[in-house]
Amino acid sequence: MTVGRFITFEGVEGVGKSTQLAQLQGALLAAGREVVATREPGGTPLAERIRALVLHDRSEPMPDAAELMLMFAARAVHTENLIRPALARGAWVLCDRYTDATYAYQGGGRGVADEAIEPLARLAQRGLMPDLTLLLDVPVAAALPRARARTAAADRIEGETQLFFERVRARYLQRAALEPSRVRVIDASGDVAAVAARVLAAVQTLESR
Ligand code: TMP
Repeated sequence: MTVGRFITFEGVEGVGKSTQLAQLQGALLAAGREVVATREPGGTPLAERIRALVLHDRSEPMPDAAELMLMFAARAVHTENLIRPALARGAWVLCDRYTDATYAYQGGGRGVADEAIEPLARLAQRGLMPDLTLLLDVPVAAALPRARARTAAADRIEGETQLFFERVRARYLQRAALEPSRVRVIDASGDVAAVAARVLAAVQTLESR
């Protein structure tokens, strides 16, 4: 049984997801909630090892199918071993990326068909879906320089072209349009406090549920 709340943060690199996740974590902790902050791919020791493989292993070419399945392998581990138990004891789980990222990056970015993604999502998640997804959005041309300035060496995905990230953003916005009650588009331009206030306003709709 799920009794906590499952909130995911999405968006292209450099939109400020991690900063906003930490802001929301602080606000929820101050309100007396148990909060579990985590990320994908990763979030448990085994899933973090899969993360290292999928993002950093350049020993040979990685077919799109392998990248897709590694994302879901990490997700299955993370969902069963960390997310479900946390929700079951009533925690609020804040997760930096989840399955919307797979549709955006492997689907929109790499061109993998939804028909390949859907059965893996069913297998890995066994019906678990975020209660709320916060899609932090700014134009790619504004976000990418921020992402590139903060990391010395880009991982396998960060090094992609602007066109790739335009496709990722377009797919995210498409998913938000299809599921407007779950996926809220947050204008991520402006200072940290202004964006945090927008995030909090979206999250307050969950408090009363
Ligand atoms: P991040 O921790 O900086 O967000 O990096 C994670 C990277 O992994 C980012 O480039 C997006 C990518 N990713 C996918 O391609 N598919 C997925 O399903 C997930 C969760 C992440």
